[in-house]
Amino acid sequence: MTVNRIEYKDFRNIALLTMEPSDGVNIVYGENAQGKTNLLEGIWLFSGMRSFRGAKDAELIRFGSEFGRLKMSFEAGGREQKAEITVSVKRKAKLNGVELPSCAGLIGKCSAVVFSPSFLSIVKNGPEERRKFLDAAVCQIKPAYANLLAEYNRLLKQRNSLLKDIPIEPSLLDMLDVIDERMTDAGERLVTERKSYIEELLPSVRRIYDGFSGGSEEMDVCYVEKEAENGPIAERLKANRKQDIINKTTSVGPHRDDVDIKINGISARSFGSQGQQRSCAIALKMGEAEVMKNFTGEQPVVLLDDVMSELDANRQDFILNHIIDRQVFITCCEPSTVLRLCAGKTFHIEKGNLIQ
Ligand SMILES: Nc1ncnc2c1ncn2[C@@H]1O[C@H](COP(=O)(O)OP(=O)(O)OP(=O)(O)O)[C@@H](O)[C@H]1O
Ligand SMILES: [Mg+2]
Repeated sequence: MTVNRIEYKDFRNIALLTMEPSDGVNIVYGENAQGKTNLLEGIWLFSGMRSFRGAKDAELIRFGSEFGRLKMSFEAGGREQKAEITVSVKRKAKLNGVELPSCAGLIGKCSAVVFSPSFLSIVKNGPEERRKFLDAAVCQIKPAYANLLAEYNRLLKQRNSLLKDIPIEPSLLDMLDVIDERMTDAGERLVTERKSYIEELLPSVRRIYDGFSGGSEEMDVCYVEKEAENGPIAERLKANRKQDIINKTTSVGPHRDDVDIKINGISARSFGSQGQQRSCAIALKMGEAEVMKNFTGEQPVVLLDDVMSELDANRQDFILNHIIDRQVFITCCEPSTVLRLCAGKTFHIEKGNLIQ
């Protein structure tokens, strides 16, 4: 998909703004607090997802205004389309003139992926962030996965509450057998989907990271099942049952699995430099976009908020000049970045206005 034109009115700190981006790289630059992230956030809202900043709808309306309006002309599915979002008490959307039941109706129509600095937690933080990324990414391309995940989480909740009751009511142990069987089934299917997603993702991620590092480093991503050495999920649940009853919580299963991100064979989380960790996170996002393209046939727009900091000149050059075949929006503070862009368009933003 390609964004041809955007128009914002009373959105965040932007009173009125029109932008006609290039279909390649677009740099939005300006000082802190001028509206760079706001501009990207607006494009992201057309993906039908929630704000990547976790903002409430009312926070999107410019202070003192009653409502905000965003319009976008874009090319997707081989034709020119128009979408419109009105933000008042609730967000509403129109696609090609037709009112949608909710903004979620835009999902899959204007696809985008976004990297914001908070996404660095995928490399820096604990396993929960990585599982979340994986689950969200699989949900986007296989909607049935959301049901499977919900089913597994429901069983997990049931199991944990059983574990609490068993010491008081030992006859409930039979129930635990039933739940364990169901959890094994759902859990195995979950793990299979997650692993096959990583298989899809890996070639793109490796290629992108290779570009970042100029071929000098190798990135790897692999799924790590907790206590895999103790056999399949059923065996692990059995082996940990006694301890689980004492701790009143389920210690093994996909809700405790992790994803190992490595550079040259060692953990990026424990040993990666700032720039390496950032490169890994960006490569994962760009890889996610490629998997989406392989599944849907449509290349998502890539939104990169504040990616340049901590990257050396070569890595910055890779983002600016070597990511081809797709539309990218990059925000940065440093005006000199613009001079290094070989092709594409640049936009200077000040107090919510694009200035020439
Ligand atoms: N609803 C709103 N109405 C008016 N102004 C708002 C609203 N929401 C946010 N702002 C203002 O928008 C300004 C710019 O925000 P934004 O996050 O886009 O800055 P930025 O250019 O990305 O800065 P940085 O380089 O620090 O990331 C902030 O100072 C904030 O106070
Ligand atoms: Mg910002």
